[in-house]
Amino acid sequence: MTALWITLWRVQGSVWCMAGTSAAVIALVGIDGSGKTTQAVRLAAALCAAGITARYGPNPGGRRFLGRVARRLGRPDAIALVGRRGLLLIEAVLRWLAIARSLVAARLTGRIAVMDRYTPCQLVSIRAHGGGDRLERLVRAAYAPFPRPAVIIFLDVPPGLAYDRIEQRGDDHEDIEYLNVSHAAYKDVLSDAVHVDGTGDPDTVAQAVWAAVWPGIEHGLAVDAGQS
Ligand SMILES: Nc1ncnc2c1ncn2[C@@H]1O[C@H](COP(=O)(O)OP(=O)(O)OP(=O)(O)O)[C@@H](O)[C@H]1O
Ligand SMILES: [Mg+2]
Repeated sequence: MTALWITLWRVQGSVWCMAGTSAAVIALVGIDGSGKTTQAVRLAAALCAAGITARYGPNPGGRRFLGRVARRLGRPDAIALVGRRGLLLIEAVLRWLAIARSLVAARLTGRIAVMDRYTPCQLVSIRAHGGGDRLERLVRAAYAPFPRPAVIIFLDVPPGLAYDRIEQRGDDHEDIEYLNVSHAAYKDVLSDAVHVDGTGDPDTVAQAVWAAVWPGIEHGLAVDAGQS
């Protein structure tokens, strides 16, 4: 496992060299169902409409896909297929690759990377799924070279509301206990995030996200993209 991280770390070093400096990052984080994807897509589109080149960066962890694979193979879920820690490791590697890919693409095209999830999300996932201190330390080290976001937005939604949204979405299912633990873990892990109330309708939340991002844009985030 350690060898895998060392390899990824080396790959990342080479990729950063190829890309020059790192991309400017705006990250949206929050519990499952808080509206990250909805708002990150809208924010990237709104930035582009305002003449600021931005790129939406998805950050899938593979849980839904592995869950489907597991059921095809007659297992109840992904944990039954690869184990709890195995799943956390796969998720951490996939998210690492997705973040690296998005940052390099944003850097090469001179765009701001609007990230749907970012490094704190993996730490929260490890805590909420009981991955243990050793895995958390390993992931912290592997994710440490990623650039600090210019703005990190925590979409704050009560776990009960997030649960209802996920049920209504109908793609997957999350336990309310997991959402509760995850919500508490975000508050613990995040130190410098802007908290945005995610409970309103999508337009209201989008306006609040924009209000949180715009001061950074005005102070040169767009001009300095790639120098954060
Ligand atoms: N402000 C909102 N009000 C009502 N429904 C919303 C709002 N924002 C998003 N939704 C809906 O709630 C569901 C969850 O939103 P979304 O997929 O954006 O959340 P997410 O944080 O990306 O979730 P996940 O972590 O599972 O990827 C979607 O069906 C979406 O259409
Ligand atoms: Mg999403």
